[in-house]
Amino acid sequence: MFPTHRPRRLRAHPQLRRMVRENVLTTSDLIYPLFAVPGEAIAKEVRSMPGVFQLSIDKIVEEAKEVYDLGIPSIILFGIPADKDTDATGAWHDCGMIQKAATAVKEAVPDLIVIADTCLCEYTPHGHCGYLEVGDLSGRVLNDPTLELLKKTAVSQAKAGADIIAPSGMMDGFVQAVRQGLDEAGFQDTPIMSYAAKYASAYYGPFRDAAESAPQFGDRRTYQMDPGNAREALKEIELDIAEGADMLMVKPALSYMDVIYRVKEATNLPVAAYNVSGEYAMVKAAALNGWIDEERVVMETLTSFKRAGADLILTYHAKDAARWLGA
Ligand code: PBG
Ligand code: ZN
Repeated sequence: MFPTHRPRRLRAHPQLRRMVRENVLTTSDLIYPLFAVPGEAIAKEVRSMPGVFQLSIDKIVEEAKEVYDLGIPSIILFGIPADKDTDATGAWHDCGMIQKAATAVKEAVPDLIVIADTCLCEYTPHGHCGYLEVGDLSGRVLNDPTLELLKKTAVSQAKAGADIIAPSGMMDGFVQAVRQGLDEAGFQDTPIMSYAAKYASAYYGPFRDAAESAPQFGDRRTYQMDPGNAREALKEIELDIAEGADMLMVKPALSYMDVIYRVKEATNLPVAAYNVSGEYAMVKAAALNGWIDEERVVMETLTSFKRAGADLILTYHAKDAARWLGA
């Protein structure tokens, strides 16, 4: 017996494969993360993330131009302050790093969409994403006092020119708090991209080198999600939608493809996947050793996020991917 159904018929020619391809990555899907540090003419490569740099504002502006010229529509900004304090002053101060970077980028490249990461971990000496009682070494992050600081942070970022606010600390009610703060300050039209389903992941290790935001004691498991849970992600997104989120993020991406898929099934809002630092570091390490074909692995991975349901992908590979896509 010969087979009647021959799926190989549609794989016989590159053009045919192109015609029946279900998911394609485009440059429009990409968001590139940038780390702003104080100083001038600084480009300091992150030890665990080859090709990723901490940049002073002047360099951030140069980078933003390059990103825009590559056709990438958006960047997300993280700030590393000169000083850290328990009130996370660097997060919400009008002269904070994200604020300064956002203003400079919008002035130089007005059409590049600037997303501001809204969190406290880079700005507090203990490195947690929220407010802790002064002198508390137990790592008990206080939810509601944190919301007040996040509100202030979001408003100050919007004032500085940020187009999208991205609260990332996994505090209960953070979307509602940020929405309320923005509305009261006249930023009704500023969208919120919520880090809705963010897991307590070991894949964030290299980011904490980049952002100098590793917790100095304890860990983030009392606010970030347990890796064993998927239904809980649906509860998180339900709450964030009710609180007014405009876009939802799943993070990390690679080992949470099922979560991306479920979230996409459960909502009509745009879904973003964060291809995090550890995922990037693993690919880079293998590529630098000559063990994998970097371009093919990266393009396959990013396309897989689309297949899983991601509309947008935050990735340190964004510039390379845009080049490979032929900007
Ligand atoms: C914390 C934050 C994290 C990342 C971005 N913002 C995780 C964390 O430190 O817990 C991770 C991004 C990455 O790993 O690329 N607000
Ligand atoms: Zn944080």
